[in-house]
Amino acid sequence: MSALPAWPYPRLVAHRGAGKLAPENTLAAFRLGYAHGYRMAEFDVKLSADGVAFLLHDGTLDRTTSGRGRADALSWRELSQLDAGAWHSPAYAGETLPTLAAVARWALASGVAVNIEIKPTPGRERETGAAVALDAQSLWAGADVMPLLSSFSEVALAAAREAVPVLPCALLGDQIPDDWRARVARLGCIAVDLDHALLTAARIDEFHAAGLRVAAWTVNEPARVAELLVWGVDSIITDAVDVIPPR
Ligand code: G3P
Ligand code: MG
Repeated sequence: MSALPAWPYPRLVAHRGAGKLAPENTLAAFRLGYAHGYRMAEFDVKLSADGVAFLLHDGTLDRTTSGRGRADALSWRELSQLDAGAWHSPAYAGETLPTLAAVARWALASGVAVNIEIKPTPGRERETGAAVALDAQSLWAGADVMPLLSSFSEVALAAAREAVPVLPCALLGDQIPDDWRARVARLGCIAVDLDHALLTAARIDEFHAAGLRVAAWTVNEPARVAELLVWGVDSIITDAVDVIPPR
């Protein structure tokens, strides 16, 4: 059994800030997750046309902002004018898209650990991975707990690791490929971050035996959270911040 890498993170993580209770990936969502006691948040980061790292899940602006089209077609100045809250509910009208820098300031001031999911727009994987890692290194310089970087894109993760080898990273997956050992070793990941439906007690033991931490997303049923905790999962990412007590 390999020794497990350091994992200075809370066990429960608020997905996109506060799940579906507030507009995802906004400061309003992070504040609501915090109000429910969560001290770690996951969020999605991509680049504007002019290379500013900002928070947005989708590749396009349509679902969660007042904008239209590809998210990387606009400059940060243009993106900063969009409404990122009205789509959710009237109470959040006027909420803006945050930069990674704004979220870093809030997280450091609030003592909240972060999982930065690198979510590049198609074709910008390498550039996004490198830029987000470099930003994270400088924004969190000297912090007690550094961000955990994660991505479904192995190209983005490889670029992040190349740019800043010291930042911990996790390979996201909605399947477990047969060659998972080689993939995580090549990327230098300390964790796998998987669709929770893929996990069993035996699978978690297998990853731990390989020296990897295990994160699970997106778990919204208290009974499933309890089961995964008994099996020794290292992180659980949840939308249900109002139902599942943080740990
Ligand atoms: O980081 C885990 C989870 O957020 C991955 O899926 O689509 O919600 O970003 P998604
Ligand atoms: Mg995500």
